[in-house]
Amino acid sequence: MEKFIQGKVVAQRRWTARLLSLQVDAGPIGFEPGQFTKLALPEGDEGRMFARAYSFVNAPEERPYEFYYVIVPEGPLSGRLARLEAGDAVWLSPGAAGFLVLSEVPDADNLWLLATGTGIAPFLSILKSETAWRRYQRIVLVEAVRHADELAYRDQVERLKREHAGRFETVVFVSRESVSGTLAGRIPQAILDGRLEAAAGVELSAAASQVMICGNPDMVRDSVQALGERGMKKHRRRRPGQITVENYW
Ligand SMILES: Cc1cc2nc3c(=O)[nH]c(=O)nc-3n(C[C@H](O)[C@H](O)[C@H](O)COP(=O)(O)OP(=O)(O)OC[C@H]3O[C@@H](n4cnc5c(N)ncnc54)[C@H](O)[C@@H]3O)c2cc1C
Ligand SMILES: NC(=O)c1ccc[n+]([C@@H]2O[C@H](COP(=O)([O-])OP(=O)(O)OC[C@H]3O[C@@H](n4cnc5c(N)ncnc54)[C@H](OP(=O)(O)O)[C@@H]3O)[C@@H](O)[C@H]2O)c1
Repeated sequence: MEKFIQGKVVAQRRWTARLLSLQVDAGPIGFEPGQFTKLALPEGDEGRMFARAYSFVNAPEERPYEFYYVIVPEGPLSGRLARLEAGDAVWLSPGAAGFLVLSEVPDADNLWLLATGTGIAPFLSILKSETAWRRYQRIVLVEAVRHADELAYRDQVERLKREHAGRFETVVFVSRESVSGTLAGRIPQAILDGRLEAAAGVELSAAASQVMICGNPDMVRDSVQALGERGMKKHRRRRPGQITVENYW
C-alpha cells in the first residue's frame, strides 16, 4: 500500500489569524470518532513527504474530511497547511490511529471531555456519534483557550446543546482575558478547587464519571494529577480506570 493518498482541498476556513479548518476531499479512510490521520506535503525534490498527525473533526460518515489546526510559529508543517487554497493537493495517510475513542472508554453515568486549544477537534467528532449519547446519561465539554475569539465551532456546539438539552453541558475557560460567562484560570486548578464541577452542575467522581483529555501535554499531566486527588486514575485495558488521554505534542 502506498504511504499517502492524494486529496484535494475543498475549503480553508480561517477563524482567527492563526486558527483554521481545512476541508479535504480524498478516498476512503476508515476511522472511529476521536482518531487521527496524518496530513502531509512534499518536501524537497525526491518526492519525500513531511507529515504530522491531525484529529478528524468530522464524523466517519461525513464528507469532506475536516481538520482544525493552529499555526505554530516556526512550525514546519502548520504554516504550510495554512497557505493551501481550494483545489490544491494535500496528502493523507490512508489509515487512522489513536486510542482517544469511546471503544476504549468504560461505561459511566457521565462523560467529561477536557480540551485545550485545538484539542477540541476529536471531541467534536465523538459528540456527533450516537454511541456517546447512548452510553452516557450526561456529557460535559470543557474547553480552555487563551482568548475568547479562539472559541471555534460555536454553531456545532450550540446545535448539540439544542439536540441534547438537559444532557449536554459546556464549560469554557478563557485564560488571558476576562470574559463574562466563562471561567478564568486553568482546568486542573478548577478540578482541585471544585469550580469545574460547580460550573457544570455534574458530578465528577470515580464512581460516576469517565474523563477524556486532549491537547497541551502539561494540561493533560496536571489534569490527570488533579483527578488523582479524587481517586481517579488512567484507564488501562487490564487495570480499569476513569481517564483516557491524548497529547498533541
Ligand atoms: C495524535 C495527535 C493528534 C493531533 N491533532 C492535531 C489537531 O487536530 N490539530 C492541531 O492543530 N494539531 C494537532 N496535533 C499536532 C500536530 O501534529 C502538529 O504538531 C502541529 O500542527 C504543528 O505542526 P508543525 O509541523 O508546524 O510544528 P511541530 O514541530 O509539530 O510543533 C512545534 C511545537 O508547536 C506546539 N504545538 C504543536 N501542536 C500544537 C497545537 N495543536 N496547539 C498548540 N501548540 C501546538 C508544540 O509546542 C510543539 O512542540 C496532533 C498531534 C498528535 C500527536
Ligand atoms: N502567533 C501568535 O500570535 C501566537 C499567539 C499565541 C500563541 N501562539 C502559539 O500557538 C501555540 C499555542 O496555542 P494555544 O493557545 O492553542 O495552546 P495552549 O498554549 O496550550 O493554550 C490553550 C489553553 O491551555 C491552557 N494551558 C496551558 N498550559 C496549561 C497547563 N499546564 N494546565 C492547564 N491549562 C494549560 C492555556 O492557559 P494559559 O493561558 O494560562 O497558558 C490556555 O487556556 C504555541 O505554539 C504558541 O507559540 C502564537
